[in-house]
Amino acid sequence: MNDIQNQDDLYKVVDEFYKKLLADKAISYIFTDVVKIKLEEHLPVLVSFWSQSILGTGGYYNNLTQIHLDVNAKSYLSKELFEIWLNHFENAIDENYQGINCERMKNQAHNLSTVMQIKIAKEKDEKL
Ligand code: HEM
Repeated sequence: MNDIQNQDDLYKVVDEFYKKLLADKAISYIFTDVVKIKLEEHLPVLVSFWSQSILGTGGYYNNLTQIHLDVNAKSYLSKELFEIWLNHFENAIDENYQGINCERMKNQAHNLSTVMQIKIAKEKDEKL
């Protein structure tokens, strides 16, 4: 198996990842009902994010944590949802690629997941 090396590889990963997310009723409602994502617009944004983060090619400027706080305000993003998300993400990578960039991508997703959950918990506390 090859490592993730370019934007085509990233596209393959996020495409396979979203197939898994959308096939799993425990989490798919977030992408179909809470936020109605358009895959043809969403997948290229994900590729630009991961390209910036893993390949250093730039082009992603949004506030990722705030975007997820906004999703959370509409429908609570629980620890269980983050675990489901990470599980599908890791499988989408491991089933198709292998190498240092794969490991960096999985670590990055874990780290961001932790940051997002801390911010979500903080917002919850501030509302009490
Ligand atoms: C419970 C777990 C998660 C759920 C349910 C979730 C859901 C979503 C949804 C609904 C959007 C679209 C938001 C919009 O367009 O308004 C989105 C965007 C995105 N998510 Fe997540 N997310 C989760 C965790 C993560 C994690 C851990 C990462 C880490 C890399 C991540 C990366 C992204 C990226 C890069 C975008 C694109 C943001 C943009 O449009 O600029 N997500 N997510």
